[in-house]
Parts: sequence; C-alpha cells; structure tokens
Amino acid sequence: MELREIEIFAPATIANISCGFDVMGCCLDSIGDTMILRKTSDKSVRISKIVGEELPMEPEKNVASVAIMAMLKACKVQPDFGFDIEIHKNIKPGSGIGSSAASAAGAVFAANELMGKPFSNHELIPFAAEGERVACGSPIADNVAPALLGGFTLVKETDPIKVIELPSIKGLYATIIHPQIEIKTSLSRDILPQNVSLKHAVKQWANVGSLVHALHTNDHTLFAESLKDYIVEPHRSKLIPKFDEVIKSAINAGALGGGISGSGPSIFTFSKDSKTADNVSIAINNIYKKTHIPYHVYTSKINETGVKILKRS
Ligand code: HSE
Repeated sequence: MELREIEIFAPATIANISCGFDVMGCCLDSIGDTMILRKTSDKSVRISKIVGEELPMEPEKNVASVAIMAMLKACKVQPDFGFDIEIHKNIKPGSGIGSSAASAAGAVFAANELMGKPFSNHELIPFAAEGERVACGSPIADNVAPALLGGFTLVKETDPIKVIELPSIKGLYATIIHPQIEIKTSLSRDILPQNVSLKHAVKQWANVGSLVHALHTNDHTLFAESLKDYIVEPHRSKLIPKFDEVIKSAINAGALGGGISGSGPSIFTFSKDSKTADNVSIAINNIYKKTHIPYHVYTSKINETGVKILKRS
C-alpha cells in the first residue's frame, strides 16, 4: 500500500558537549516533538498546524518547511505530490536543546520516507542545516546531525558538511535543567572572544581528542576528565544563574560532568546510569528551587538512532 502519512518523534539534542564547541553533539531519547507529514495533491510545502508554541506558519519562515524545500531543490526527480506538515512542539524554542533542529531534522526525515527514501540520513544533514539557517542565521549542523543519526556525532567539515558518527558510552544518561530565562543565541555568540590563547587551545584539543577516545573505549573516567571547556564556557556561564553550583552539586551526586547545552540556558550533565541521573536530578532541583526562576529538569538516556517512526499509514 502506498505510504500517505507518517508520524515521527523528532528528538532534542545537546550540542557542544563542553569542549566540542560547534562540532560535537548527542541525541536524547525522552525529550522531543511529534510531527505528522502527509502527502498532498498540490505540489506545495505547507504548515497546517503547530501545537504547543507560537512559531511561523509561513513556509518560507518555518525551519521545517525550509528544510524540505532545500531537499526538494536537490532532488533529481521531483515528487508528484506536496507536503502538509503538522508539528506538536514539546521542546521550547530558545532552550538550548535543539528545538529548531528537531523540527528541521524531523521534517526532512519524514519527507524522505514519503518520497521512498532517495537520500541517506547523512545526506539529509545539509538540508536540515538549511532549516537551521532560518533559526540562527547559519547552516549549523551540530544539533541536526545527532538528531538525524542518533548517538554522538562530530561535525568534521562545514563546507561541504561532513559528519562522523561516534560510539556512545554504554548506559549513559543525561540530566538537563532548563532555567526558563531568555538568552539569545546571537548574544551568547557575540560575547565570545574572536581569538583564543594557545595555552587554552592546547588544553581544549587535548580534551576533544580524549573525549572521542573515551567514547570509543567506553572509559567513564576519561570521559569525565574530558568534559571541560576552557574557551566558551567561562564566558557563557556568567549568563546562567547558579551554573557552577549546578555542576558541582551534580558531580557530588555522582554525575560524570556537565556543561552548557548548546548556547544555553539549559545545563546538561551525564551519569553512568538512570539511578545516578535521578539522584543528579534531585541535587539540581535542590539548587534551583531556592531561586525564583521557573525551570524544568529532564532525564533521558542517549538515543542511539535519532528520529523515530511512530506510525505509517
Ligand atoms: N553550537 C552552537 C553554539 C549552538 O553553541 O552557539 C548549537 O548550534
């Protein structure tokens, strides 16, 4: 039977992973949006419904439709149908856990399925990154890559985009706090220095290399030691209330380490199992409940596959 409609889970992601600014990312399993894509008889790409957040409905302004249009441009044979997109947002825009990336990655994944999969998930990454251009000004791939591929990813090149899939530490869980304050990505990029000291650069690339090695060798100790950012975090953490206390309390509760998720304000921590991740959640709650800032704490295992199909009809 011909596939007419598909419902998918579009996952949240953590970009940067401390030392891997703009290159590393990982995919989350229990935080994400739901999207439904349907074939239409006209050949347009339209957004028919967005539930949960106020986001643009105009196809040229929404990351999901823009990503699909980028994909259609690259198609050798145009489909003889159009796409109707319905988005149920659970990931708050501006939270730092890849809200726009989830919509862009989910859209191209689902559209590709409806078209009979002319593209591999790797080939979909640049199209989803075009969606990101609408959200943040550049076709950045450090969230869309893990959303499409799952696990941990490293953006090796940006022009053209080349992404390396990395193995995950087995059983790893993330605990994330989203303090509901607004930090614009543009501001959190503007405050970064354009030049870095050689001393810090050496420490940083040692950590990136060690982090990748820790993932390959399932080495929790090396993973924990490598989750350090000498270049970006010292500047951005000043924008996030209680950042140092959250990381310290999480480590005291058993976390391997943590940092700023994407450009913030969310803070991520990693734990070796779900029980530790729950203890970390309690510790982080105890820090933030003393503030007057609304917040939300999530725990999730690492999603090894990326976007997931929920229903096909
Ligand atoms: N890596 C980006 C940043 C955010 O930290 O500014 C995610 O694309």
